[in-house]
Amino acid sequence: MILEVEGLVKDFGALRAVNEVSFGIQEGDLVALIGPNGAGKTTVFNMITGFLWPDRGKVVFRGEVINRMPPHQISRRGIGLAFQITKIFPRLTVFQNVQVALFVSRGKGVNLFSLAPRVFKEEAREILSLIGLAEMSNLPAGALSQADKKRLEFAIALAGRPRFLLLDEPTSGQSAEETALTVDLIRRINQEQGLTILFVEHKMPVVFGIARRILVMHQGFLIANGEPEVVRRDEKVQKAYLGENV
Ligand SMILES: Nc1ncnc2c1ncn2[C@@H]1O[C@H](COP(=O)(O)OP(=O)(O)OP(=O)(O)O)[C@@H](O)[C@H]1O
Ligand SMILES: [Mg+2]
Repeated sequence: MILEVEGLVKDFGALRAVNEVSFGIQEGDLVALIGPNGAGKTTVFNMITGFLWPDRGKVVFRGEVINRMPPHQISRRGIGLAFQITKIFPRLTVFQNVQVALFVSRGKGVNLFSLAPRVFKEEAREILSLIGLAEMSNLPAGALSQADKKRLEFAIALAGRPRFLLLDEPTSGQSAEETALTVDLIRRINQEQGLTILFVEHKMPVVFGIARRILVMHQGFLIANGEPEVVRRDEKVQKAYLGENV
């Protein structure tokens, strides 16, 4: 297991947002975390990335307990989070945005001012072509479409070279066409880079289209954990989604 969470509990006042949640993620896996609004999904993510500390339970990443560490220490250990904290610099080019991200994550000892145009060129190029943004390299990031900005955020997250990537609603606000591109990207990053991915997503075709395992939360509890077809038929899951198509 690359990640294990054991008995996680988080209260907000009288509300138990996360209730005794335990699960493990295998290295290389592509796992969806789903559940109706308010189920506790983002709160679980926040406890994995260190933005929140659990009231009880623990988070173990590659054998190390991380749930008392601040976010930057957790990210340094290889847990990447796309979209929520990523900042794009709109006046820098797409290429420079990735270069800066590479520099920030690995640039110790490199003099940014003297080497800026040269550092991490190869790596930035590789990441941009993987993401499908190579042709936009020289555009200012601020000029990109919403969907391409999202791809750039993906590139920035990859520049941190995570061992484990968390995506909170990667396709939110995207058209069907953009969603298909994002789905393809997630699948490729998982397969070609072998990167372990845990993602939260509301669009069921996306979830069932790419996840190899699905975790289902409802009202703070983890109510199912298994392969897509087993989860789809699970009675508790169907009840939690009553009225929605699972
Ligand atoms: N900082 C906070 N203070 C108080 N209550 C919170 C806080 N963060 C989350 N909550 C509450 O905890 C519960 C779980 O919230 P969470 O954001 O984890 O749900 P979610 O599954 O991510 O939902 P969504 O699908 O809408 O994003 C909700 O009832 C929410 O209102
Ligand atoms: Mg959420």
